[in-house]
Amino acid sequence: MNILLLNGPNLNLLGEREPSVYGTLTLAQLVRRVSAYARKKGAAVRARQSNSEGELIDILHAQRAWADGIVFNPGAYTHYSYALRDAVAAIRAPTIEVHLSDVTKREPFRRVSVIAPVCAGRRYGKGADSYLEAIDDLLARASR
Ligand code: DQA
Repeated sequence: MNILLLNGPNLNLLGEREPSVYGTLTLAQLVRRVSAYARKKGAAVRARQSNSEGELIDILHAQRAWADGIVFNPGAYTHYSYALRDAVAAIRAPTIEVHLSDVTKREPFRRVSVIAPVCAGRRYGKGADSYLEAIDDLLARASR
């Protein structure tokens, strides 16, 4: 199984960005951890990050033939990007929306996800483990 691990805006600053909310793991460390976890379970991972909405859409388009599943943390775009929602809906691979923090218990604007309705699942609130759970969700779907 091929998994696209896609991180959106400001996630390049993981480790230094609000560590009390997002933890101290850097993006590189997170990617290594998620990739190693997936690899052990027989899946290949391609990791990408962008701060731009259009570039995230371009990555989804470019990887759509390769990816059998997508683990996507859209960052703040989660809460208002209909363009990203349409991109997720446009491709065949199931997408799991992930968040490091518990977006259901933060500011009201973070409780809204315009992406979730077109995703196959959602994991949040467990730091890096949210991503590992999303990998498991994709593998479980694929073996059904
Ligand atoms: C986030 C939650 C979003 O609300 C926020 O804008 C982020 C990170 C998370 O992983 O918890 O950038 O997606």
